[in-house]
Amino acid sequence: MSTFSAFSLRAHAKVNLSLRVLDLRADGYHNLETVFQALGLHDTLDFEPHEGPLTLSCDMPGVPLDEQNLVWRAGRLIWDCAKGRGEPSGVHVRLRKRIPAQGGLGGGSSDAATALVGFARLWLPHEDVPILADMGVTVGADVPFFLCGGTALGLNRGDRVFPLADIEPRYVALVFPPFGVSTPTAYKWLDEERVEGVPGASFGRDLLLAGSVKLPVGNQLEAPVARRHPEIGQVRDALIAFGAEAAAMSGSGSTVFGLFEVREQAARAVSALRREGWNTLLTRTASRRQSSAGAPVLVRTRSSRID
Ligand code: C5P
Repeated sequence: MSTFSAFSLRAHAKVNLSLRVLDLRADGYHNLETVFQALGLHDTLDFEPHEGPLTLSCDMPGVPLDEQNLVWRAGRLIWDCAKGRGEPSGVHVRLRKRIPAQGGLGGGSSDAATALVGFARLWLPHEDVPILADMGVTVGADVPFFLCGGTALGLNRGDRVFPLADIEPRYVALVFPPFGVSTPTAYKWLDEERVEGVPGASFGRDLLLAGSVKLPVGNQLEAPVARRHPEIGQVRDALIAFGAEAAAMSGSGSTVFGLFEVREQAARAVSALRREGWNTLLTRTASRRQSSAGAPVLVRTRSSRID
C-alpha cells in the first residue's frame, strides 16, 4: 500500500506571444522561433494514494483515461526510469480540466509536464527539472516550456527553451471560435502559401518586456488559418478595437488572445464578445514563479489569486 500524503499541483495554459515558422525539417516538423507566455488559467492534478495500477479520472467528458492520455504516458516514463516493476501503480490522478482542449493553449502538454513533476516526486525524488525536460520532450514538444513557465523563448520544435524575464503582468482575453484547427493542416496551409508566394500578414505590434526589450506579438500561422476562417481575423480586430495592446491566434489555433493593461477593458471585451455568441474567458499572464509545472495549489487569498 502506498503511503504518501495526497497532494495537488497546477498545470498552466500558455499562449504563443509570437510564433515564427522557419524551415521544414527532415522529421516532417518545422523549426520554430516562438515566445511562450504562461497564463493564470490552469488545470489541477490531484495525486492520491491508491492500491493497484495507476488510474486516472477527469471531470471533463471525452478525455481519454488510458495510455492515450499524456498524464498516463508521463507516469509510464517516470516509472520505467525509476526501474519500477510491472505497471505504474500506487497512485490515482484526478485531473480537473479548465484549459479547453485542442485550442493552441497547450493543455495536454502542460498536464504532462505537471504529471512528470508529480510522479517524479513519488518515484524519482532526486531528478531535477532539466532531466525531466529531456524525458518530457518525448511526450510533447511543449513539455519543456511548461516545466519552465513564465515567459520563454522556444527554438527547434519549441522544445529548446530559454527562460526570459517575466513580462509586466497583463490581462488576457481568450476567445474560442466554435471550430478547431488541425495542427498539421495549419502548417500545410502555410507551406502551400509560401510556395505560391502568398504574402504573409504583417507580424504585429510590439509589447514591452520587463526591462527594455521590445517583443513582437504575432503568429505566422494566423494568416493562412484566417484566410479559411475569417472569424479569426474578426475576433482579433474586435479585441484591438476593445483596447487590446496586441492580439493574435495562439499556436495553430483556434484560440485568439488579446493582451490588456487595464482589467476593465479586458472584462468589457470578454462580456461583449460573449453577448455576440463567442465562448470567452478572462485570465492573466503568470510569472515563472507562479506557473512552472508542478507549482503547488495554494489556499487562495485575494493577493495570491492567479487566474
Ligand atoms: O506537435 P504535433 O505532433 O501535434 O504536430 C502535428 C503535426 O503538425 C506534425 O506532424 C507536423 O506536420 C506539424 N508540425 C510542424 N512543425 C511543428 C509542429 C507541428 O510541421 N513545429
